[in-house]
Parts: sequence; C-alpha cells; structure tokens
Amino acid sequence: MDNSQHPIGIFDSGIGGTSIWKEINTLLPNENTVYLSDSKNAPYGQKSKDQIINLSIKNTEYLLNKNCKLIVVACNTATTNAIKYLRENYNVPFIGIEPAIKPASLKTKTNTIGILATKGTLNSELFEKTSSSIDSKINIIEQIGEGLVELIENGRIYSEEMTILLKKYLHPMIQKNVDCLVLGCTHYPYLIPQIREIVGTKINIIDSGEAVAIQTKNVLESEHLINNNDQKRGENLFYINKDKTVLENILSDFESITTIKQQAF
Ligand code: DGL
Repeated sequence: MDNSQHPIGIFDSGIGGTSIWKEINTLLPNENTVYLSDSKNAPYGQKSKDQIINLSIKNTEYLLNKNCKLIVVACNTATTNAIKYLRENYNVPFIGIEPAIKPASLKTKTNTIGILATKGTLNSELFEKTSSSIDSKINIIEQIGEGLVELIENGRIYSEEMTILLKKYLHPMIQKNVDCLVLGCTHYPYLIPQIREIVGTKINIIDSGEAVAIQTKNVLESEHLINNNDQKRGENLFYINKDKTVLENILSDFESITTIKQQAF
C-alpha cells in the first residue's frame, strides 16, 4: 500500500512542539501533518514515567486513527520516558527529541554547559545514559525549568513572572561560566528572545528542532514514505483539547495552517 500521501503525526504535551512542527513544515512543505496539543494534561514534566507512557499511548493511538504514516514525539519529556515503549509496541516509525548535550559538549570552550529541561527529562534513564556518555571533563549544569511550560501554555511568554523565573534559572549558569545553553524542552525556543537578553551574546543557545526535521526527512526517504506530490502544499491540521486561542496566536504568522480544532481527546 502506498502511504506516502498520509500525514506525519506530531504530538506534545501542549503547544511547545509547534517549534518542531515549524521546522518540519519549512523543510517538508508538501507533507500533510496532524499536530496534537495535549494541553489539558500539560505539563508532563512533573508526572511519573507510567503516566507519561499512558499519555503517549493515547496520543499515538489518536494519530494512528488519523492514518499517520510516521509519528514525531515533539516533546523531550515524552521521548525520554516513553519512546522505547512506543517503538516496541507500534508498527510505525517514531522520531524523538532529546536535549542536545552531545553537540554542546563538542562546542564548549569553557568545558561547562548548561541544560534547561523538565524534571521528567532530567530524571529519565535515557538522559542519564546520554549524560554519562559525555567526556568527564565537561561539567553539565542541570536546571529544572519549573513553571516555564505553564506560563507558555497560558500565553504569558512575555510577562514579568517569566523574566523573574528565567533570571533565577540562568544567572547561576552564567556565574559558573557556561558557554553553551541546551534548551531541553520544545516549549523553550519560544523564550529565546528573553533568554538572549539575559545571557547576552557570548553563550550559544542550542536546540534540536532543525535536527529533528532533518531526521524526519531522512527516515521518510529511507522508508519510501516521502510525499512526492510537489504540485500542492501539504494540509496542516491541529487538534487541541483546551482553549485554542494561545495555539492560534503562536501560529498566527504561518500561512500554511489549514485548521485548528478544539476537541476532547
Ligand atoms: N514540550 C515538552 C518537552 O519538550 C514540555 C514538557 C511538559 O509538558 O512539562 O519536554
């Protein structure tokens, strides 16, 4: 059966994974996509591994019912806790996202890198495995970004509370001479302008969005799933199980949005 016209499924605990959707849509504009924003259950970062796996199963099954040919887990917390289970139990390719501490460890000159991520990501076995594979001379400063996802989900990206939290998390890293800051949560690229103001220009801000889009393209090609219909731009469908206003705002500059539906799932 030729599945190539079927959509790419993408899910996140909320609206943050749209930072990955944007990269995929830019690289693969002809692909149809279905995005699931599980905002009703955000944040995932404070939940147990079992809860994260169960929510990831629910999202995967919803996307498979929409005939998705490949699923992008556009959430570090869900990837680091649930992708192994998903790959073992569903017969569809999965692409995940993990904090880019390896590339950061190759780039740092001060041998000190910072990572901002959720508790669920930093406490996961997968993250532990990746960080223990990094050269031991590299000092990794881990910081839980508590409260950041909630503010973004509530449309308060540019707010005083956000500035206070970011300063609290980033100032200690600056003092410890971090020269690479890894954004380990797909919500955080929306904070780059404020982060840049706090850390200045000397710190590299590293996120994995573009790498995920490239990996998605590579897997589609190797699995013969790429949509070769270059006559027409893909259709992009978004589902959210909470008020859709914040999602509409975050996507407002994208012309290729087809539909945003508020729906229970
Ligand atoms: N976007 C999710 C991530 O990349 C946010 C996690 C959460 O909901 O706490 O980790």
